[in-house]
Amino acid sequence: MAGEPNTAKTSHDAFAVNKLLGRGVNLGNALDAPQEGAWGFTLEEEYFQAVKDAGFDSVRLPVRWSAHAMNEPPYTIDPNFFNRVDWAVNCALSRNLPVILNIHHYNELNSDPAGQKEKYFALWEQIAGHYKDYPDILLFEPLNEPMGKLAATWNPLLKQAISVIRKSNPDRTIIAGPTWANTIANLKPLELPKDDRNIIVSIHYYDPLPFTHQGASWVTDRDSNAWMGTKWTGSDSEKKATTRMFDIAAAWARENNRPINLGEFGAYSKADMESRARYTRFIADAAIERGFSFHYWQFDSDFAVYDVEKKTWIKPLFDALLPPKE
Ligand code: BGC
Repeated sequence: MAGEPNTAKTSHDAFAVNKLLGRGVNLGNALDAPQEGAWGFTLEEEYFQAVKDAGFDSVRLPVRWSAHAMNEPPYTIDPNFFNRVDWAVNCALSRNLPVILNIHHYNELNSDPAGQKEKYFALWEQIAGHYKDYPDILLFEPLNEPMGKLAATWNPLLKQAISVIRKSNPDRTIIAGPTWANTIANLKPLELPKDDRNIIVSIHYYDPLPFTHQGASWVTDRDSNAWMGTKWTGSDSEKKATTRMFDIAAAWARENNRPINLGEFGAYSKADMESRARYTRFIADAAIERGFSFHYWQFDSDFAVYDVEKKTWIKPLFDALLPPKE
């Protein structure tokens, strides 16, 4: 009706922003490696174009800021690194792709929160200040997968990180998740500032781990080689295990009136492709059915949905993530 305020405005409305995130991919293993390229993947502008052309709605950009800043006050971030992240963020924004910018692989913060928190807040002070005038479709995610010693103090640390961000970005949508790898089981104890409604809650889902992480060398507490050959057949019990957890997340979201983003899911390339495609489709659909946005882990490298050598999408995974175009 004429004269009515435009309630469809995206800013300040985390639910509307979450709709824009839709179906997305992680551009991981590049800026979150110790140095970009160290894990065999370097971002190129054409990848952003490929993501856009394919019809994905958004990207998540994992960044290891902690490795590119001073270790003592004022913890200055290397300006060359800032330039590189600016370039990546702009590659997304100039294509109207919403982008989630996070702090990823800050392992020292997980193991020594007391010793690292000053640096952590200083990083956010700089990142938030730097991007404060960027469009609303740039989102900040305070930290990927809080765990270890940090788990016990995540709630107060997160609140403080949010207040650091809010000083320069009062209206930007923030994405935050529960402890222990953003697992659904840890949603209940997650505390968010009650009056700040511009927050999307992010969960990660890699269950069952013996399937998704078979042969993964970075799983150190169990023998992931013993899991090799594990399939995901899509049996009732396999499906129920997922729907039970996703229903818990959806119920939490309703009770707390917060939108949900499935920020990571996928299966490692050592699993067989048929199982991976079946699993990926099931998880993607389960997320969308419940109104969650998602970011598949990941575009490139070990969980790849895109073959960077051949410059082609890996069909079975791609089809699992994006419904066929009409
Ligand atoms: C990590 C990646 C890892 C993936 C699956 C991500 O959060 O950053 O290094 O490959 O989880 O385990």
